[in-house]
Amino acid sequence: MTDTDDDTDADGDAPGADSVALDPWGSSTVSDYRKLFEEFGIESFEDVIDEVPDPHFLMRRAIIFGHRDYRPVLEAMRDGDPFAALSGFMPTGDPHIGHKMVFDEIIWHQQQGADAYALIADLEAHAARGLSWDEIDDHAEDYLLSLLALGFDAEAGTLYRQSANRELQDLAFELGAEANFSEFEAIYGFDGETDVSHMQSVVTQMADILYPQLGEPKPTVIPVGPDQDPHMRLARDLAERTRFFKVTEAYASVAFDDDERPLVAAAYDVREQYAEDADSPRCTEAADWLRDDPAVAGEFDDETVDAVVEKLDNAGMEPLRPRVRFFDRQATDEAFEALIDAVAGEKRVFEGHVDAFEMSHETAEDLALGVEVDHGGYGFVPPSSIYHRFMTGLTGGKMSSSIPASHISLLDDPEAGYDKVKSATTGGRETAEKQRELGGEADDCPVYELYAYLLAGDDDEFAERVYDECVGGERLCGDCKEQAAQLMEEFLADHQEKREEAREVLDDLDVVLDSARV
Ligand code: TRP
Ligand code: SF4
Repeated sequence: MTDTDDDTDADGDAPGADSVALDPWGSSTVSDYRKLFEEFGIESFEDVIDEVPDPHFLMRRAIIFGHRDYRPVLEAMRDGDPFAALSGFMPTGDPHIGHKMVFDEIIWHQQQGADAYALIADLEAHAARGLSWDEIDDHAEDYLLSLLALGFDAEAGTLYRQSANRELQDLAFELGAEANFSEFEAIYGFDGETDVSHMQSVVTQMADILYPQLGEPKPTVIPVGPDQDPHMRLARDLAERTRFFKVTEAYASVAFDDDERPLVAAAYDVREQYAEDADSPRCTEAADWLRDDPAVAGEFDDETVDAVVEKLDNAGMEPLRPRVRFFDRQATDEAFEALIDAVAGEKRVFEGHVDAFEMSHETAEDLALGVEVDHGGYGFVPPSSIYHRFMTGLTGGKMSSSIPASHISLLDDPEAGYDKVKSATTGGRETAEKQRELGGEADDCPVYELYAYLLAGDDDEFAERVYDECVGGERLCGDCKEQAAQLMEEFLADHQEKREEAREVLDDLDVVLDSARV
């Protein structure tokens, strides 16, 4: 987890990462979630929440605040089509109430029909955090027991640890062939001092993220904290790079890039203004028209306009005509041939691409995917993600596994949990009198967060009442903490009972909890 401020120090695991704004192995907190939207293109969850059937309380309370490309997952959910949810856990310490959020997210998606996956990132814990295999084994079991206790259906879902999953390792190796060190430098701040195993743990995570699609491509959501976003961006890139074909829109035999294409599209749309024959506008006619600098060209930067004009000029009398273009990117010869055969209607075959004149972009994408899968390709669709806010530590700063008082472990004695809540920092005023007068600051209160993230559960009305009573000055911190502490004690007692029941389920699963390694 890291701050979006550029001067943030990262820890020693990712040398040079202080120049990387979101660092998966960093150690500070995110101070401004809005910045993540602008700087990294994470979209606000608010924009999609209305499309979510029966949203989870973490969504309703905007604790899940952002997403990348979540819509395909929602569509599959609504239409009853296959989709998956996966997240991973580094077994570096006890699972705590921050992890519970992610467990809940996986379980919720499973209940909405997802193929659900949870994995133990033991290779990453060993490579990036230096944990011994014994420690990893112990923690791995604890994560799995809590996940099961919270309602993960292990019969329907999949649990694995990275080190014991051969298929995953094979996929990681293949994906590694699509990435190089310069990219790792740019994305993660790796440098010449970075362990090779640490880099291997990155390709392993890429494989984790795409693993649910082995066998059948499908929308997949990865619920994580925003510190994992660099991994998501790389995984989305790699998914695309493995594809056999790239489908784009085109207007002539010459290729226009993503910046140029909208201008060409605009010029095509107004062909009646300049073409001698509007059914068959010529490239050179469009070039002449654009050169005269009409309003349309004015909406694009000069460089784009110049480039487009030049290309259109070179194309001369060739008709300007919309089409979808399939580029052969990684296809086998047989797959390319099969694609050509499968294109219906008028088509033109070139050296490394095919143009189809009577096909929508969407149909073309489906066709490309089908041919790829039929010929042994992965057909990965870009994975989606949702991002949750990090819980504030009970002592005010970051919630950290290495500071016991800052978090509540799911293994804490219920009484110890009670005590931790009782001694938590609050958003209260110095005196009861002031609190009645001004109200408390629930928005800056770790105790309020406990209610919102966990203790109020599905009961929105209860969460809202705590909030309103706090900011209205009717609720005083002493009583408020007492109530929260009792609820926490009950939650822990109940959870730990369920963990014991889950042991039997875990014993029956074939998850290896005894590494042969030392
Ligand atoms: N890197 C993640 C962490 O630090 C753990 C992880 C490994 C993961 N593989 C994953 C998370 C795949 C999501 C998806 O916690
Ligand atoms: Fe926090 Fe409760 Fe105090 Fe409000 S009353 S500041 S929610 S502890």
